[in-house]
Amino acid sequence: MMRLQKYLALCGIASRRKSEQLIIDGKVKVNGETVTTLGTKINPQTDKVSVNNKDIIYEEKVYIMLNKPEKYITSASDQFDRPTVLDLIDLIEKRIYPVGRLDYNTSGLLLLTNDGQLTYKLTHPKHNIWKKYIAKVKGIPTEQEMKKFKTGLKIDNYTTSKAKIKIIETKEKNSVLEIQIKEGRNRQVRKMCEAINHPVKKLKRVSVGDIHIGNLELGEWRFLTDKELRYLEQL
Ligand code: URA
Repeated sequence: MMRLQKYLALCGIASRRKSEQLIIDGKVKVNGETVTTLGTKINPQTDKVSVNNKDIIYEEKVYIMLNKPEKYITSASDQFDRPTVLDLIDLIEKRIYPVGRLDYNTSGLLLLTNDGQLTYKLTHPKHNIWKKYIAKVKGIPTEQEMKKFKTGLKIDNYTTSKAKIKIIETKEKNSVLEIQIKEGRNRQVRKMCEAINHPVKKLKRVSVGDIHIGNLELGEWRFLTDKELRYLEQL
């Protein structure tokens, strides 16, 4: 059983608050009867709900995180028949979609859902969510190069917004960097590293906002926790 306003919001009808208003305004019927009491509980499997006399189709929302391995493409099909991230998600008969994209050769945190509103929220530039990457790059960036990274770099025909960068490990000829960007343009981290002359050798995304990959194994997936869902809801 589920509260009617929550059900409407889950079906993508309107936000929770606007759904409450729809109920108060007498626009919502359950099994043909107008319901104006907030908090009325319904059974999504058996009750028929309509808004403005239009039946609502229930689709339970699914939220998944995948630790994407390299050499998988982030889309539902590929012209070259390469494996796709959806090949890694068994058990699910639902149609789910990746939220944004990771390159073929990038590994790490990828969210997948059938919640179009969330996808919009997370991928629209105005929402500005920090995405954190661990990049192994050629050479060791100097302070000056890192400063350029932080203030904005000109790549292609745009200037990147402020990014964060720090060195977490150096080896003889390479270094491992922690990089955070808010945007998510095509191959952006790779292009930014290229722009300061430290091309990426390996790239992994470890978090999107407060959602972290943790110790999820490469190629494995799990449902998001309630805590993670609450975080996404309040964005
Ligand atoms: N930036 C990149 O360059 N590649 C990715 O896959 C993600 C961010």
